Amino acid sequence: MEELPPKHGAETTKRKVAHSDEHGFSDQVRVPNVIVMVGLPARGKTYISKKLCRYLKWTGFKTKVFNVGEYRRTDANAADAVHGANASFFSPNNADALKVRAESARRAMEDMADYLNSGAGSVAIFDATNTTKSRRKTIIDFCTQKRIRCFFIESVCDDPDIIDSNVTDVKVNSPDYKGLMTAEQAKEDFMRRIENYKQQYEPLDESEGDLLSFIKVINAGRSFKVHQVRGHVQSRVVYFLMNIHLLPRSIYLTRHGQSEYNSMGRLGGDSPLTSDGRKYALALAEFFEDEEVPGLRVWCSQKVRAAQTSQHLKPDFHTEYWKALDEIDAGICEGLTYDDIQQRYPKQSEDRAHDKYHYRYPSGESYEDVVSRLEPVIMELERQANVLVVSHQAVLRCILAYFYDRPLPELPYIDIPLHSLVKLTPRAYHCDSTIYSYDIENGKWSNTSAQLPLCDSPRD
Ligand code: F6P
Repeated sequence: MEELPPKHGAETTKRKVAHSDEHGFSDQVRVPNVIVMVGLPARGKTYISKKLCRYLKWTGFKTKVFNVGEYRRTDANAADAVHGANASFFSPNNADALKVRAESARRAMEDMADYLNSGAGSVAIFDATNTTKSRRKTIIDFCTQKRIRCFFIESVCDDPDIIDSNVTDVKVNSPDYKGLMTAEQAKEDFMRRIENYKQQYEPLDESEGDLLSFIKVINAGRSFKVHQVRGHVQSRVVYFLMNIHLLPRSIYLTRHGQSEYNSMGRLGGDSPLTSDGRKYALALAEFFEDEEVPGLRVWCSQKVRAAQTSQHLKPDFHTEYWKALDEIDAGICEGLTYDDIQQRYPKQSEDRAHDKYHYRYPSGESYEDVVSRLEPVIMELERQANVLVVSHQAVLRCILAYFYDRPLPELPYIDIPLHSLVKLTPRAYHCDSTIYSYDIENGKWSNTSAQLPLCDSPRD
């Protein structure tokens, strides 16, 4: 049996007892997973850890990153962070530092085991270099004893450009160096740190154990080596890693222009645009004339209002119509206003207000259902370069929650006004977000750099 994300808000409390399998995990239905990062410094391990964590959380797995560098910085014997600011701390001959480093790893491992075995989470990501066989053996033994399944991700990179940009963009801003030296000095020190790690680096290999499962990501995804993948979580992780890329690009998201149903406060349906909605469609086309986004692709839902919103965009954008981008199906409430629902189905209104993410409209969908059907869209967004998505409020909330890394219970409350366009630009550890708002009255766009906020009760 394999672990699946919990359904319908069911909090996993204790791990359950079930059948045997051949890998020594004989009595677990939900086998928790530790994903162990491996690789020299500046190989994108933290980038992968954070990104994977965000993806797994969005798909419903409770996931947390345990970064050993952070444990080291809070270690009583290394509290002033000065240790980390000097490459000699990472020398394989520095016995005192080796003790601090081993102790930091041990504390992180204990916390991971508590997190998984208490049922608070089902996937833990162990973000450290883990570059020696002996460190990895300690982790494997620990996980076996705690009945946790282990999967290794080794990031191997010998492309000097990728390493240089990682050190320059991310590492010089590390808390290890903050306030202690210039960016130039930090870079030099970090390069020496890498050399120290190289002295003891032993790349992963199959001979490290019969139960070893891993993926090697080579030069930021130019090639891969995958070995002995076990179970649903691991295969999902492999699939995800094979689809992500580091190339700069932007993703644009917009709801359709105002529809006739919007103007009446009715849910769903397939009504055409109002005259304001048609103005927005024209403004959107003009926006992209000016913005000149190279190779832009347009993905649109199959609803009339979305198709009308994208109709003036240039034909070279190759608009594709995805059923998966259609609005949440409100089932028996389609075509009703929120007040109608309150009057006809008060229990439904109450249930929805109680748990909006998991609530499923009778004969319709829940937000959780929409997230499931959007997974291929997210995967494809990860693979592509510049894309404009023309869709609907509930769908865009699900997509935005992924890029903004928002908790699932908050997702249905992200406020996405009509006639606004969100530009997302992925960065190393976050996503920049710019909101362009179109004022129908004066025919002008304005913009602000921010994430869309949460609202209490959207009703348009
Ligand atoms: O009201 C517009 C709309 O897109 C509806 O079609 C849809 O049911 C609703 O928004 C989703 O928002 P909420 O989940 O807040 O009801």
